[in-house]
Amino acid sequence: MKDFILFSGSSNLPLSREVAKLLKISLGKVDLTRFADGELRPWIREDVRDKTVFVLESFSFPMDEHIMEMVLMGDAIRRGAPETMIAVVPYLGYARQDKLHRPGEPVSARVIAKFLEVSKYKEVITVDLHNDAIVGFFQVPVTHLSALDLLAGEVKKHISLKNSIVVSPDVGGTKRARNLAYALDLPIIVMEKKRYLDRHDVSESYEIIGNVKGKTAIIIDDIISTGGTIAHSAKSLKDAGAKSVIVLATHGVLAGAAKEKLADAPVDAIVITNSINVPKVKLFPRLRMVSIAPILADAISRVVH
Ligand code: R5P
Repeated sequence: MKDFILFSGSSNLPLSREVAKLLKISLGKVDLTRFADGELRPWIREDVRDKTVFVLESFSFPMDEHIMEMVLMGDAIRRGAPETMIAVVPYLGYARQDKLHRPGEPVSARVIAKFLEVSKYKEVITVDLHNDAIVGFFQVPVTHLSALDLLAGEVKKHISLKNSIVVSPDVGGTKRARNLAYALDLPIIVMEKKRYLDRHDVSESYEIIGNVKGKTAIIIDDIISTGGTIAHSAKSLKDAGAKSVIVLATHGVLAGAAKEKLADAPVDAIVITNSINVPKVKLFPRLRMVSIAPILADAISRVVH
């Protein structure tokens, strides 16, 4: 087995600790302090020479701070002459900006990929990217994990699949929904969602392509941010006669008033993962969480064994 260390940024310490526990190691010591003016000053307190070094950081809110932690920790570690350095990014923020939506905007996901590379990360391990094509933005190898089996397992444990249907809340998510439908052996329907380039985070106009009357609708999405997509699609599904609505999503961004919006939505249960550390105040009874620590620990084990 290779000699390895796992460091954690500040974005998701509970997940890092869980991964470390599964790997039967302690997290590497790093001080993440700031100067009085707010500048970050990471200090790696371990000898990394000739070691395989992993750094776990979710690019969740405040994403720019977390990205900067990742970049500066990368520079600090590579100066200690490790064998290799691998970024473990359970949630890749900026992934939704994966194309030039209109002239004058950046392709931000591409920039984030570059940041990791210039910080000398030689590989990336990540989970359920908004779009599979983002893997191609990286020049280094990417292990693209999926939480789909974990989410599917959770559904199987808690609901009867008889008379259920998998729903993609937008055309972009069709492949994801198809994979879940395959895993659960269920049919799939696709909804149509409209976004407005000049109105951030607003989505409207839901059309259902398929019949949901009397069925349990299992919506699958990659991200729940403002909760608008889920609230609107759940309402449309109910209006169209769905008996109940279950929601599965990998990344619980839960921005702004998402909690209130989701709590008011006609949804029976929402299952997300811990790819993002959701603060306790944002939790509510119908929101359940499954841990992706086992799939991350497994991916790390495969590198070091
Ligand atoms: C968008 O294409 C994504 O797959 C999600 O549907 C979206 O990010 C959810 O955002 P919100 O919760 O703000 O509607």
